[in-house]
Amino acid sequence: MSSPCVSSIIGTGSYMPEKILTNEELSKIVDTSDEWITTRTGIKERRIAADNQATSDLATAAALRAMESAGVKPEDIDLIVVATVTPDMPFPSTACFVQKNIGASNAVCFDISAACSGFLYALQVARNFLNAGTRSTALVIGAEKLSTLVNWTDRNTCVLFGDGAGAVVIRAVDSATEAPGRVLSTIMGSDGNLVNLLRVPGGGSACPITAENIDSRLNTIHMEGKETFKHAVTRMCQASEKALEMAGLTKEDISLVIPHQANARIITAIADRLDLPHEKAFMNVDKYGNTSAATIPVALDEANRQGRLKRGDIVLLVAFGGGFTWASSVIRW
Ligand code: UT7
Repeated sequence: MSSPCVSSIIGTGSYMPEKILTNEELSKIVDTSDEWITTRTGIKERRIAADNQATSDLATAAALRAMESAGVKPEDIDLIVVATVTPDMPFPSTACFVQKNIGASNAVCFDISAACSGFLYALQVARNFLNAGTRSTALVIGAEKLSTLVNWTDRNTCVLFGDGAGAVVIRAVDSATEAPGRVLSTIMGSDGNLVNLLRVPGGGSACPITAENIDSRLNTIHMEGKETFKHAVTRMCQASEKALEMAGLTKEDISLVIPHQANARIITAIADRLDLPHEKAFMNVDKYGNTSAATIPVALDEANRQGRLKRGDIVLLVAFGGGFTWASSVIRW
């Protein structure tokens, strides 16, 4: 290539497990109701992976769909980055399991841990490889089996989360060409002072798995919901504005926002603060709940397959999650 490289999304894919867990069913497990969950979160149901499905299985199914939509073969893939907080194992990386499953023998593979911002972090890391010219075709995947981290006796959190996976194929293209799906900008941020507001305290080196820790449910998601909500809205709005500015664009240019799907009220608050009509903010949290790193690639794939993305559209992706972490990316479709 004569000109410098830029990165373009050339295919999208997603996979959601078959089993649906409705609010009605949850109200038989904990003291909650469809009415409470719907009005406070917008969630109606979520997907739960089968016992014999690991995160890499969900990731593999999404990856194969993205590769089919991109028209690439396994040997074309030279980088696989999986964003997840529910890896199959502490090691090897979930990305290596995906590599084995799809036969991408030319790929370098690793995982990224940035909670719900993980997919956009992974996209930026992969984009850096591609723009530097050191890799040419990457699979970027967000995949989670959060049902394994949920405390099914805690109504504050168990109603919120679900399982699923989404993927994109990105390719290095000549900057002089008008390739569709071009990633125009990505910004990322973190604030480790707020690690305690959203976390799984047990199961790592700080608090290893013991019978006592499991009895105390330390291996499950702990969240200060109200505080997290406020930071999520503020950070996602700031990140969106910065990513737009970096791309040389304004709010008026946006065709569709694909925000992290944690709570419908967060999504409408972001749309309001960005002065966007609500129909420009993509929402599928009603069907899947919060699938952490998977929400954005799953929503992007659904928007793509529903024909909501037209060539030349400006699409704003924005995420927020544990850490805290946040990120936003602008794509010209
Ligand atoms: O993915 C990373 C980003 N994640 C987020 O951004 C999530 C952010 N947080 C949220 O989405 C919301 O804060 C929640 C949905 C988690 C909670 O909504 P809220 O409006 O902030 O409710 P709350 O925590 O203030 O709870 C209100 C009441 C409490 O009862 P009292 O103390 O007022 O008597 C809770 O015990 O609702 C109660 N409650 C429930 N009631 C029925 C909490 N969970 C439930 C439930 N069913 N599932």
